[in-house]
Amino acid sequence: MSNDPLFQPLKVGAIELSHRVVMAPLTRMRAAQPGDIPNALNAEYYGQRASKGGLLITEATDITAQAHGYPLVPGIYTPAQIEGWRAVTNAVHAKGGFIFTQLWHVGRISHSSMQPHGALPVAPSAVPASGTHMTAAFETVPFETPRALEIHELADIVADFAQAAENARIAGFDGVEVHGANGYLLDQFLRTGSNKRSDRYGGSIENRARLLLEVVDAVIESIGANRVGVRLSPWGSFNDMHDDDGSLLWEFVISELDKRDIAYLHVIEPRSDFTSDSAPLDASAPDAAASFKALFRGAFISAGGYLPDTARATVGEGKADAIAFGRPFISNPDLPERIRLGAELTPHDRSTFYGGGREGYTDYPTMHQAVEA
Ligand code: PHB
Repeated sequence: MSNDPLFQPLKVGAIELSHRVVMAPLTRMRAAQPGDIPNALNAEYYGQRASKGGLLITEATDITAQAHGYPLVPGIYTPAQIEGWRAVTNAVHAKGGFIFTQLWHVGRISHSSMQPHGALPVAPSAVPASGTHMTAAFETVPFETPRALEIHELADIVADFAQAAENARIAGFDGVEVHGANGYLLDQFLRTGSNKRSDRYGGSIENRARLLLEVVDAVIESIGANRVGVRLSPWGSFNDMHDDDGSLLWEFVISELDKRDIAYLHVIEPRSDFTSDSAPLDASAPDAAASFKALFRGAFISAGGYLPDTARATVGEGKADAIAFGRPFISNPDLPERIRLGAELTPHDRSTFYGGGREGYTDYPTMHQAVEA
């Protein structure tokens, strides 16, 4: 066996990976319309990126119609969507790979043109994110002021996550990742910049963490802790996130997740700006893996601007158990094999990230295809 730290087995809850190169969740906006339905092209894309014993995490996926915040992203709440995902999981399993789906509610990062009955987006509090968002018709508009969720609605959202996890099981997923990161609903509850509530879901760290932990508990109840991962973005500022707690919030949340014995924790390093390809990594950003790995006994996946060498060093030093790659996995369907061999990586083209068809999606060649061409 090789002594490459990235190519050692790793137990992740109920599954055993044969390597530590994970595909990060990536919005690609190519679900079939109407109905936000995963389709054959999506199955081909994930199948291309599957590897024996490797873990893929799907693009963020709506748990309900209310959870929706970007055009053309898939859902996992209708029979047709579940059926569509079944083809995706089959394609990945046929290559001996594993796949989790990322369960998403965007909260205030939506627009009334994408909400049921044209309603306002929902959030912990009626505080808009600063900046602009897109409409269903891809126009750029300022964020609307969201409607603050009533306390009785939160139990429904918890139940929606649990149902989506059950749907994921039916669709053949190996597990689910609860999206607690990047300024979407669960992160909006965690952070003081977006959560101004005075009930049991706002104020103290314990209160702000309540919705995330209730969701995780309900999802565990639905499919079992060893099938559940959680993604967090400590100190992240994407989608106008900020808070007053320094590391205390994250220490509390991660310690609570540790008690629940979930399969993995997936942490985005705040140094990386995934909306830019030219911004250098921020060397002054706090190091999330160094700060939190010791608080969590399950598998610890780190993401955020890794290259093969930095990934190998990070796992080799024990700072993380596995590394999630985003952009490099878009343009290199055989990324784990390329990293294993030290082969050159194909650069990505940001102009084809979101929307469209095959171009920039399923037409990036493997090494093998590049040689034949
Ligand atoms: C996006 O669609 O831009 C997006 C989605 C989920 C994330 C981050 C960004 O976690």
